[in-house]
Amino acid sequence: MSDEKRGADLNEGPSVGTEATETSGTTTTQTPDPKKSRRKPAIVIGIIAVIAVAAVGVFIWHNDPSFCGAVCHDSMSTYVNTYNEKSGQAGTDAYGNAVADSSAMLVVSHKDAGLNCLSCHVPTLSQQLGEVQETLAGSYYYPLEEVGVEQLMVNSGHEAGTGDQFCLRSGCHEFTRADLTEKTADLEFNPHQWHHSDTTCSDCHKSHRASVFSCTQCHSSAYGSMPDGWVSYAEGRQILEAGYNAGK
Ligand code: HEC
Ligand code: HEC
Ligand code: HEC
Repeated sequence: MSDEKRGADLNEGPSVGTEATETSGTTTTQTPDPKKSRRKPAIVIGIIAVIAVAAVGVFIWHNDPSFCGAVCHDSMSTYVNTYNEKSGQAGTDAYGNAVADSSAMLVVSHKDAGLNCLSCHVPTLSQQLGEVQETLAGSYYYPLEEVGVEQLMVNSGHEAGTGDQFCLRSGCHEFTRADLTEKTADLEFNPHQWHHSDTTCSDCHKSHRASVFSCTQCHSSAYGSMPDGWVSYAEGRQILEAGYNAGK
């Protein structure tokens, strides 16, 4: 009798308040045997509710950069730190190198645009379970090898794609390479000239370290057009090597 009643009440929002008092009343007055079996649905539902509330909490926290550093692994904290650097001010990259102007790290300019880790790192369950496994097994290496945008897409369980597909898409930068050429036309050496067909976005735009004006590898005239905080091709290589060595 009371089983059916309780079941029905749990499915009906409005009477939950009164039912709660009734429930505690019935549970204490009943004989041991039926008590056990009747309590079960309530306990199960209670547990599910607690898990649901916890899951929602974790999900919300998951969207916050602090989650990645706190939950995943220590090595992630250097990446979180880059996110907390301020545009126009000196900072430190994910490998511990000085950055003259933190806005040269994409993670900072994107934070200023209101984005967070998950805007670029689209998480998939398989990737996260893999990382947890690696962390537990102690095989998560640091510093993490730098990957390009292409690999980043694969890492997060998507089809491999170019920087064009990752960055120049709806919801992000809704324009073409040709538009980009115009946007930076005021620079004496325009980085978005696309003279060489193999140029990709992540050759230059770096997320967790100073961006690199890659053209300086061959065009000395490109040095004069480096924005604040950016580094030359040669400096970029040194920074990366020093970073890897420091972490070993
Ligand atoms: C603007 C896009 C963007 C944002 C925002 C961003 N990242 Fe990244 N992140 C990248 C790109 C691109 C790479 C690949 C280059 C590299 O390995 O450094 C990367 C690489 C990484 C890596 C190492 C490679 C890997 O996938 O294992 C970690 C760890 C990481 N990011 C953590 C974070 C955390 C934590 C945040 C938030 C605090 C964050 N990122 C925010 C774009 C972003
Ligand atoms: C040769 C280096 C280089 C490459 C490759 C490159 N960029 Fe840039 N990009 C720059 C520089 C330099 C700036 C100017 C940054 C500044 O002023 O802070 C810039 C600026 C931008 C801007 C801001 C434009 C504005 O002023 O509104 C966007 C968006 C951008 N790049 C996207 C891309 C995308 C997407 C790709 C790949 C298709 C790409 N870039 C490839 C060097 C490069
Ligand atoms: C590995 C060396 C190398 C790199 C890196 C390089 N270039 Fe070039 N670039 C050349 C050579 C060699 C030429 C002349 C032959 C040709 O036209 O391809 C050239 C020619 C050009 C030209 C034709 C006009 C001129 O100055 O001769 C443009 C424009 C250009 N590059 C832009 C760029 C941009 C933008 C970048 C960075 C994204 C870049 N290059 C990176 C080697 C390079």
